Amino acid sequence: MAAVDVPVALLGYGTVGAAVNRLLIENGDEIERATGHRIRVVRALVRDQARERSFPAGDDLLTTDFESICSDPSIALVAEVMGGVEPAADYVLQLLRAGKPVVSANKQLIARRGPEIFRVASEEGVQLRFEASVCAAIPLIKVLRESLVATNVHRVLGIVNGTTNFILTRMEAGVGYGEALAEAQQLGYAETDPTDDVSGADAAAKMAILATVAFGARVGLEDVLYEGIEQVRPEHVEAARELDMTVRLVGAATLADGGFDVRVQPAFVDRRHPLAAVEGAFNAVMLQGDAIREITLEGPGAGGVETASAVVADMVSVVGTAATGFLHNDAAWRTLPRLPPGDLRSRYYVRIEVDDRPGVLAHVAEQLAAQGVSIARLAQRQLPDGASLDLVTHEAPSGRVEAALATVAELAEVKGAPTLMRVISERGV
Ligand code: NAP
Ligand code: HSE
Repeated sequence: MAAVDVPVALLGYGTVGAAVNRLLIENGDEIERATGHRIRVVRALVRDQARERSFPAGDDLLTTDFESICSDPSIALVAEVMGGVEPAADYVLQLLRAGKPVVSANKQLIARRGPEIFRVASEEGVQLRFEASVCAAIPLIKVLRESLVATNVHRVLGIVNGTTNFILTRMEAGVGYGEALAEAQQLGYAETDPTDDVSGADAAAKMAILATVAFGARVGLEDVLYEGIEQVRPEHVEAARELDMTVRLVGAATLADGGFDVRVQPAFVDRRHPLAAVEGAFNAVMLQGDAIREITLEGPGAGGVETASAVVADMVSVVGTAATGFLHNDAAWRTLPRLPPGDLRSRYYVRIEVDDRPGVLAHVAEQLAAQGVSIARLAQRQLPDGASLDLVTHEAPSGRVEAALATVAELAEVKGAPTLMRVISERGV
């Protein structure tokens, strides 16, 4: 039987866009055999048609004219792989209103403008898929929306940014932060502007999307408490090694007590915990639910061809389910409150640099005790101009630990702001 011809367009022909075209050309026969569809990129929107491309675009493929894509009735669907919130949001809304299904790899777009975009997709009855926006090649959205639809997933814990995991892994090997970031950029893992990666904003957007899909409730980027790895220093990496732990940027989404808590923070992860073994640009996400207990999905979380595989899979899903009434639109169906951020209970790693004088340790311990925070482990090291205290607390509410550290920072013998990171040692299923 002759294959169905599916002309598609791309918004963007950079790291991901060029890889999508490459995959569709080089794997076209396999995709056709498996799906009965021949998906062809016929146009790609860029800013600069003259720029050199990692996979050369064919004649007349590149355009700077969005209208030539939106108003072309022969284009069956469009993949948004350009990034940024504007003009991407405006273009996606125009495409949906024109009746064109959209596949997006853009986590900032989905996490910031999701409600409006999903509403328009539903109104127009067209599909909007976004698998590639979370953890590149790892099929998380499909697993949550389809395979685990009957499971009450109440916790999502994971490493969801490849660039920062790559940097932290390289720092463990003694490479400097700046050099490791440059390597991640060169390998195509980082965002065009890597600020979103290192500040935690990229991981926060992904956790907002995962929480929305897992909990069936709207969670936007503004609901996520996040920090990145800019404050992680070689001495933190070294302290983690000595405590038989490793530093990772961890996203955690929890559904409990009728509300949700979503956060992204650097954490000290126990070496026996599955997330400690995730290295380089790999991501891993643990899904915990009533019936399933725990499912962990791990794989490449960044990179052109890795992301392209999810974009193409979404394209196949759209063409394979077109006109079947199977819409992959709004995942949210209930309203949940955000839980008070200071209530999150955990063990914490704290580093405090102090003058090396009698009584300092007692003063620090007093401030922690005043907030009901008890110390589980302590290592003291000499520094050229004082000492460092690396300590791990017993489980305590984050608000109590933060309050104690605010008073510790005021002590005359304490130098600079203390470091605070969550310790992840138990799976919590
Ligand atoms: P990229 O290499 O910077 O490519 C962006 C492309 O979009 C370029 O071709 C650029 O045109 C085009 N573009 C950007 N703004 C435009 C505008 N205003 N008008 C027309 N064209 C515009 O970025 P990328 O790494 O491929 O990432 C694309 C998207 O995929 C982002 O949302 C990113 O978060 C997401 N993503 C990336 C990865 C990854 O590992 N790279 C993984 C998962 C998801 P020019 O080439 O002419 O500049
Ligand atoms: N910059 C992102 C990362 C790409 O490093 O994880 C994948 O979304």
